[in-house]
Amino acid sequence: MCNDSDCGRDSENTRVNELITKHKDQPGGVLNFFREYMEKYGGLSGEIIKRAAEAFDREETEIEDLLYSCNILRHATPGLHRISVCMGTTCYLKGAMQVLKAFCGELGVSPGETTADGLFYLEVVRCLGACDFGPSVMVDNEIHPHVDPTRVASIIKSYS
Ligand code: FES
Repeated sequence: MCNDSDCGRDSENTRVNELITKHKDQPGGVLNFFREYMEKYGGLSGEIIKRAAEAFDREETEIEDLLYSCNILRHATPGLHRISVCMGTTCYLKGAMQVLKAFCGELGVSPGETTADGLFYLEVVRCLGACDFGPSVMVDNEIHPHVDPTRVASIIKSYS
């Protein structure tokens, strides 16, 4: 028999375990784990960040940086697609700067700006948690792996 707080902890553990299993070996899994957890259950605790760091084999500070850089706690502006180009070390070494230039050219904006039609917001982030699949780009909640400049126009078109 458990008291109320123990039972609450058990159900949180179950939810965390289920989502870790679902996202563990997926591109951008760590980020998608947090997105889905937030969508379904709301707030995050330090314990959840700690558990995710262990499960996804990352430092807690790295997870916190990821949540911060992706603004995961902020709700997206309705109707606006957020394009996040990773400029972390791994993606940078794999050609992320050329990918970013292609997005800037196609959209006619610089990072931190929204297109004139209000459809796309372009930003640079430090790491999307999908380093093995770099250069990585995230549009809204969707990770695009192994992006090269020739794919940029078609990625944008798929959200237009
Ligand atoms: S450095 Fe780009 S996803 Fe990690």
